Amino acid sequence: MRKNIVAGNWKMNKRFDEALELVNDLMERLEKENELNAMVVLCPPYPYLEMCSDMSQESYFAVGAQDVSEQESGAYTGEVSASMLESLGLDYCIVGHSERRAYHHETNAVVEKKVKQLLANNICPIVCCGELLPEREAEKQFDVVKEQITESLFSLSAEEFGNIVIAYEPVWAIGTGKTATPQQAQEMHAFIRSLIAEKYGNEVAENTSILYGGSCNAKNAEELFANKDVDGGLIGGASLKAEDFMKIVTSFK
Ligand code: 13P
Repeated sequence: MRKNIVAGNWKMNKRFDEALELVNDLMERLEKENELNAMVVLCPPYPYLEMCSDMSQESYFAVGAQDVSEQESGAYTGEVSASMLESLGLDYCIVGHSERRAYHHETNAVVEKKVKQLLANNICPIVCCGELLPEREAEKQFDVVKEQITESLFSLSAEEFGNIVIAYEPVWAIGTGKTATPQQAQEMHAFIRSLIAEKYGNEVAENTSILYGGSCNAKNAEELFANKDVDGGLIGGASLKAEDFMKIVTSFK
């Protein structure tokens, strides 16, 4: 079911005491909101997942991991499986983030395997896609995103596809302070929805949440989220401060 979602991707930031403080701060602020128009998801580093998952029982946020192994279990030193995440009660997991594609050579085929591991363990994958700056400059952004979505997701059944969230994150906007304009975001989100409609039909497409990520902050969130095909955001830097993150969470009108 399509929902508004604001997810905070903390990336590799914060020591344990700082993470605890941030979650406590967010909980206090969430408590004061009468009505939230978006689902809040926190995606902290692995070592803090259990703490966040426990704390989420008393609050209004869900918890997600930032990555998962493509393997089911076994001798894969350093890896964390979808079933382990499920055993901590997690609901979401980011997959195919551009930083993992760039630094860990994650291909669309790997993303596809990770998505399948998560779905098999009832965890909702937040699947990232998005073009690099030279690709946008060469006006190849639609081709790139189409290839990413087709290769990593279109082997799913319509039923499986109903359980995933997509995040469009133009790589040139990540951590750069350069945001896609609301028009650029809307145009790409509408394009992604049309791809889904072509493959799985209108109902599945209309029910898929598509988030925007890339220098989304307290100032520009409202304008971005006002677009018809933008169902929320995947927030990096601005998710590390409770005040900023809450401004984004409450940007849905
Ligand atoms: P920034 O919000 O820091 O640009 O990061 C976006 C992102 O990569 C979220 O996954």
